[in-house]
Amino acid sequence: MSQRTFSIIKPDAVRKGFTGAILAEIEKAGFQIVSIKKQSISKKEAEGFYAVHSARPFFDSLTTFMSSGPIVLMVLEKENAIADLRNLMGATNPANAEEGTIRKKFAGSIEENAIHGSDAPETAAFEIGYWFAGHELV
Ligand code: CMP
Repeated sequence: MSQRTFSIIKPDAVRKGFTGAILAEIEKAGFQIVSIKKQSISKKEAEGFYAVHSARPFFDSLTTFMSSGPIVLMVLEKENAIADLRNLMGATNPANAEEGTIRKKFAGSIEENAIHGSDAPETAAFEIGYWFAGHELV
């Protein structure tokens, strides 16, 4: 059954000029782009988005990083989209990411790790609703 997930190309990857290459990997893997937009986000917006991580020691640094420059926000669709995107992304820490994954190719560190993808259906629903209005999903 077709499933939607939410993804972000993070500020490190946008700054390095990897937006097109990452989108190509995503499309090559069979994802449809339901919606896409490039924008800068505030630290407050990043804090709301990452609220589940608010008790983590890296929360302040992560939300500062995510609001440090433009990002690309996307809703993606395919069968098994959530798990397939996470496999395509590779491990959170690029040092542990498998060959051929997006993080292996494009990420610099555990924090500046190029791409985000939802980890479960409930988080995908929250994350899509956090950034996109219903009329933006085509
Ligand atoms: P993401 O998939 O967007 O979800 C939470 C983010 O926190 C993660 O990717 C990383 O960018 C960041 N992160 C996770 N673990 C650490 C860590 N140990 N130190 C710094 N940043 C982290």
